[in-house]
Amino acid sequence: MRKLLATTAIAAVALMALSGCSTRTDTTGGSTAAAGFPADSVIGVALPSKTSENWVLAGGLFEDGLKTAGFKGDVQYAGASTTVKDQQDQISAMVTNGAKVIIIGAADGGQLGTQVKAAKDAGATVIAYDRLILNTPDVDYYVAYDNFKVGELQGQALLDGLKSRKAAGPYNIELFSGSSDDANSAVFFNGAMSILQPKIDDGTLVVASGQTDIKQTATAGWKAENAQSRMDSLLTSTYGDKALDGVLSPNDTLARAIITSVKAAGKPIPVVTGQDSEVESVKSIMAGEQYSTINKDTRVLVAQAIKMAQALQKGEAVDVNDTKSYDNGVKIVPAYLLPPVIVTKANAAEAYANDPKLAPLTK
Ligand code: BGC
Repeated sequence: MRKLLATTAIAAVALMALSGCSTRTDTTGGSTAAAGFPADSVIGVALPSKTSENWVLAGGLFEDGLKTAGFKGDVQYAGASTTVKDQQDQISAMVTNGAKVIIIGAADGGQLGTQVKAAKDAGATVIAYDRLILNTPDVDYYVAYDNFKVGELQGQALLDGLKSRKAAGPYNIELFSGSSDDANSAVFFNGAMSILQPKIDDGTLVVASGQTDIKQTATAGWKAENAQSRMDSLLTSTYGDKALDGVLSPNDTLARAIITSVKAAGKPIPVVTGQDSEVESVKSIMAGEQYSTINKDTRVLVAQAIKMAQALQKGEAVDVNDTKSYDNGVKIVPAYLLPPVIVTKANAAEAYANDPKLAPLTK
């Protein structure tokens, strides 16, 4: 069912891109949607710490894009150590400064209830960016790449990569997931497991460590060192005389940490998935090390978030294309989901053709 929804959402986005039409608009969303606000208002952007390259890129793109749109942008990152508290304080300051829209890439999606309530009480509209904000009625919209689809693509890439190296299983694999304070982590993992679980059940895939529960596979803080040390332990405990054929990695930073660990153990590099199209991972894919990544063009995601702010400024309805998938525990948050693209060495040149930073790496 969820797969159907994801597929339908992708189809809708594709159709929209082809026809140039806008998707259905939300008329029930933010209470401030109809009012509009002055064109030079403050728009707050609260980003998490820079745990992956996409967040680094987003800050600059928001600064530039909001300025071009005529807004006063207030773009903040949570620090690396007191991440949650930093972000809570930053959002509170944005409310005090009269921000009309607050766009949030949550450091911890479950810890912002008080701050987004204050934002709503002050008349601001709250947009969750990339990561959903949980257990609060006070988030108006969500804009992200289709996270479940990301997971499905990762699961399928792992299977495809394994088959390309050895025609038939069983294949020994290990599973990694993201940080448990990021709502995306479970969605990525569930998407991947929707593809992998049937193959585990029929014996094609063997998780030799037995660690298949998301709690066992989680990587606190999305930190490379945590993935690397878990991989080190798995290699010692389970792969002394066994081949490791593949690893499900939820993103590129962790993929490279996993590869570093395997190399240090003197083992052949398994098929390793990723996400984000980070420069070092695209290089690694072209060099035949990391197997796959996902293209979630940050430029497009930031532009879509700014489009939402512009619609709100004019008092127009905000474009959404999914009103079913993102239940935050209190409400279903109307979402605009963009389609992620799987990238391997085979399609990298095509996938990054319009990305001036990545295209040269694929030549
Ligand atoms: C994002 C990923 C990113 C991860 C770690 C997730 O919420 O969707 O693109 O790799 O956070 O920063």
